[in-house]
Amino acid sequence: MEWSHVRAPQWPGTISNEAAKRQVAERVASRAADGEVIGIGSGSTSFLALLALADRVQGVGLAVTCVPTSHEIAGYCTALGLPTVSLLAGRPDWCFDGADEVDPERNLIKGRGGAFVREKLVFAAARQRFILVDDSKFVTRLGERFAVPLEVIPEAVNLVRDTLADVLGSVPTIRPAGGKDGGVITEQGGIIMDLHVTEAVLDAHTPTDLAVLLDHTVGITGSGLFAGFDLEVLSDS
Ligand code: 5RP
Repeated sequence: MEWSHVRAPQWPGTISNEAAKRQVAERVASRAADGEVIGIGSGSTSFLALLALADRVQGVGLAVTCVPTSHEIAGYCTALGLPTVSLLAGRPDWCFDGADEVDPERNLIKGRGGAFVREKLVFAAARQRFILVDDSKFVTRLGERFAVPLEVIPEAVNLVRDTLADVLGSVPTIRPAGGKDGGVITEQGGIIMDLHVTEAVLDAHTPTDLAVLLDHTVGITGSGLFAGFDLEVLSDS
């Protein structure tokens, strides 16, 4: 009997700027070498890169092991015949991931898809990091288009809201779920809150300072602000 989730992977929904995303997906997949452990981000660009990776693995005859960053990506790896391990069993030689915003210093906002905590774990563990973006992701200042997502312990949502309102003057809001009442619940059982980083917040804090502040706020288990990482951006420009 076949497992019902093991089927030809399909992205649920439309992929924006698909041609550009396919181009960077092919480029990053061409880096894969035999025996490597590769961290796989979540989101549509990472999905396309995973398809390109699976194609290369099969075409060239490579053996690679994947460290997925979400249930969905783990399922896609399995469906594509790519073995997976958790961070407990393998450290990525390199990883790829997408982003929602990239600033001129290569700080990132990630987490539209809600997988940013596991994405940051794999990102931090990888020895080399590639961010895959189409040109629409470049911003002059973080927060132009996206809020910074926070994963919050459910009991702490009021505490985190009030703390950040006091410290930053910006009030994070619970991201409403689609298909269930209430907020989005992460794979770790946290609630996602979105924090708008206003001009005033960024005038008072560098992205690195802000990331540290968020990491040190009691009740927050992780944020989608990726600041100060050594990484390479691959884009279609
Ligand atoms: C998911 C993410 C994604 O990498 C980010 O949202 C970009 O998504 P896409 O590749 O679909 O444009 O952080 O948590």
